[in-house]
Amino acid sequence: MLDNKRILLIVAGGIAAVKIPDLIRRLRERGASVRCIITKSGAQFVTPLTLAALSGDKVYQDLFSLTDESDMGHIRLSREADILLVAPATADIMAKMAMGQADDLATTALLATDKPVMIAPSMNVMMWTHPATQANLITLKNRAVRVIGPGVGDLACGEVGDGRMAEVPDILAALSQFFQKRQGQGALSGFHAIVTSGPTHEPIDAVRYIANRSSGKQGHAVATALAELGASVTLISGPTHEPDPDGVTVQHVETAAQMMKAAREALPAQIVVCAAAVADWKVDSTPGKKLKKGATPPSLSLSENPDILATLSQAGPQRPALVVGFAAETDNLIENAQLKRAAKNCDWIVANDVSPGSGAFGGDSNTVHLVTAAGVESWPTLRKRAVAERLAERIAAFAERNL
Ligand code: PMT
Repeated sequence: MLDNKRILLIVAGGIAAVKIPDLIRRLRERGASVRCIITKSGAQFVTPLTLAALSGDKVYQDLFSLTDESDMGHIRLSREADILLVAPATADIMAKMAMGQADDLATTALLATDKPVMIAPSMNVMMWTHPATQANLITLKNRAVRVIGPGVGDLACGEVGDGRMAEVPDILAALSQFFQKRQGQGALSGFHAIVTSGPTHEPIDAVRYIANRSSGKQGHAVATALAELGASVTLISGPTHEPDPDGVTVQHVETAAQMMKAAREALPAQIVVCAAAVADWKVDSTPGKKLKKGATPPSLSLSENPDILATLSQAGPQRPALVVGFAAETDNLIENAQLKRAAKNCDWIVANDVSPGSGAFGGDSNTVHLVTAAGVESWPTLRKRAVAERLAERIAAFAERNL
């Protein structure tokens, strides 16, 4: 959703400004262009040089700079953007915005703009709850300023409470949602997508099970990204600590057999993404009680689990038009992924480097290659959310051409 979007990022003077370099990086990873204005006090927390290096653009600071004004006047600056984002939005800049004060470049651009404005407030809890700030907040909301956060948590001043700037992924999600809503219907609106996510647990006895280290982060992010593009999504999740994504129908399962059954029952669908780390084997016979510790350890007899990806990829009237698998590989990544694509008859495989140290299982980032009939596309290491958004965009492009 953020591809080719132009963000005018106004950085005011709060400690949360230290999160802004990361925000810029993530925005650019998603294809957005970022141009920054920084206030005098903002520059006390993060240097204009850092912002310039990360945004790949000039950073604007001074309302009365002759060079800036001839290069890019403040009116043009405020208009050549798809959205103005104030982060962190301090009590001071909110008050100025509410009053229509324009005594520096940031507030002048905010007053002169004809574009939507979003703010991410950040301040001490007493400042946030002060009637003056709350009144300003109502004024801004009444003027259609979008507000993201603040969250509750430890504040830089040592107090705990409301006032912590929204985290970078939440700001990204709010921006994505904003652009999605503005586009009216998402590109995948009208399509049903099934996504599998997380590990499966295969019981050994009444209390023990075989599992793997999948956290569900990647699969859940894919479900969210598809839903954000308007798809109706059924997420079939093994046991994870991930919250159910908003706007997605979630089926909670434990074993591969249950995941298989839920996937079949969720058909028909036009799109399937199998991101789950399904256990390849299950224990043949599982007593309904806890196995007793004896003189010798029990031996486990295993048999193969059903392959959900291969089953859904089988030709037939219910075969989804696009079936995407993930291949978790520690060696010969691309070659093995290509073999898996052929063996399972799926359309695309996301080849996932899970070698030791990659952090793919359970971590927040992923290094993947998209393997299709057309070839291999290697993506840089990205946050799982960004991997999911790229994949969802590719799926939307497929749907536009073929469905
Ligand atoms: O959950 P995270 O911590 O975020 O980690 C993400 C991930 C590393 C688990 C994910 O990105 C990933 O790579 N998922 C696939 C893991 C896997 O089981 O890979 P595989 O190469 O063993 O299986 C290939 C494909 O077949 C996968 O799409 C898998 O879902 C599917 N499969 C496998 C076995 C089986 N019985 N049924 C299946 O559908």
